[in-house]
Amino acid sequence: MAKILTLTLNPALDLTVQLARLEPGAVNRSQAMYTHAAGKGVNVAQVLADLGHQLTVSGFLGADNPQAFEALFVQRGFVDAFIRVPGQTRSNIKLAESDGRVTDVNGPGPEVDEAAQHALLERLEQIAPGHDAVVVAGSLPRGVSPQWLQALLVRLKDLGLKVALDTSGDALRAGLAAGPWLIKPNTEELTEALLSPVLSVAEQAAAAQRLHAQGVEHVVISHGADGVNWFSSAPALQAVPPKVSVASTVGAGDSLLAGVLHGLLSGDSAEQTLRRATAIAAMAVSQIGFGISDAAQLAQLEQGVRVRPLTEQ
Ligand SMILES: Nc1ncnc2c1ncn2[C@@H]1O[C@H](COP(=O)(O)OP(=O)(O)OP(=O)(O)O)[C@@H](O)[C@H]1O
Ligand SMILES: [Mg+2]
Repeated sequence: MAKILTLTLNPALDLTVQLARLEPGAVNRSQAMYTHAAGKGVNVAQVLADLGHQLTVSGFLGADNPQAFEALFVQRGFVDAFIRVPGQTRSNIKLAESDGRVTDVNGPGPEVDEAAQHALLERLEQIAPGHDAVVVAGSLPRGVSPQWLQALLVRLKDLGLKVALDTSGDALRAGLAAGPWLIKPNTEELTEALLSPVLSVAEQAAAAQRLHAQGVEHVVISHGADGVNWFSSAPALQAVPPKVSVASTVGAGDSLLAGVLHGLLSGDSAEQTLRRATAIAAMAVSQIGFGISDAAQLAQLEQGVRVRPLTEQ
């Protein structure tokens, strides 16, 4: 069991609204509504907790509506190291129609000022030692620059933590320069961050080689149902998930990241690490939520994952 810190700088309350059919501009009646505490680092923490690890969660949380987060942290036994900032944590609204179409409306979230950023750094200086790894996941809130993220990652590395980064856009580009230990972009995110396509295996291998040179040890590139390619100092591996019926892809990337981190921190073989991580991600896709609800089902999914050495195509 490892002690893991996850950072969610821009968490969200997910509000799922179920309706038969969305009629824009009209009064719509919802069949059901659910709210839950979300954000990529919080999601990763939940999967890691399912895998038996001890979690501290941190980042920025709006002081006006922390209840759903606080309840989740108590329920899951997470140490709560979130900095409270004035205002409300944003809501991400998902309008889910019965034909499976989902319309997303994502809120802006609170502005995070320099004092709050400083407070988070101070908190991390205190709590980071003693953790084996830190996962920094999701987008940046208003007021936080990619350069600040880069400095944060460098500091976390200096504090002796293995840093796993999962973000996108300018934040990913700036974060890469800090040389995190592990990254898990999808192909689109990595293409955007590197400003060159990384779709073919040859392109991915070349990009991974450049990233290794700047200190990124594990380059895990996901590509939805096509699976995942993993480049490290060991021979590169590809995993293809079994076919599953898709209930919701929410948490797929977070589950994959949690699974890879779990295997690496547990000393599992690379093959087993990737097999289980891919099965956990497939399990996320096959349910409305995510997480390891059924160990037997996970074992069965693991059997269905194909892992093979990656040769350039
Ligand atoms: N339809 C699917 N069937 C099986 N597995 C899937 C499917 N979609 C995604 N996965 C698994 O989840 C992993 C992550 O998915 P994806 O590449 O879409 O990540 P992502 O874009 O980062 O997702 P997220 O939106 O959660 O951040 C994939 O590598 C794959 O193993
Ligand atoms: Mg993702």
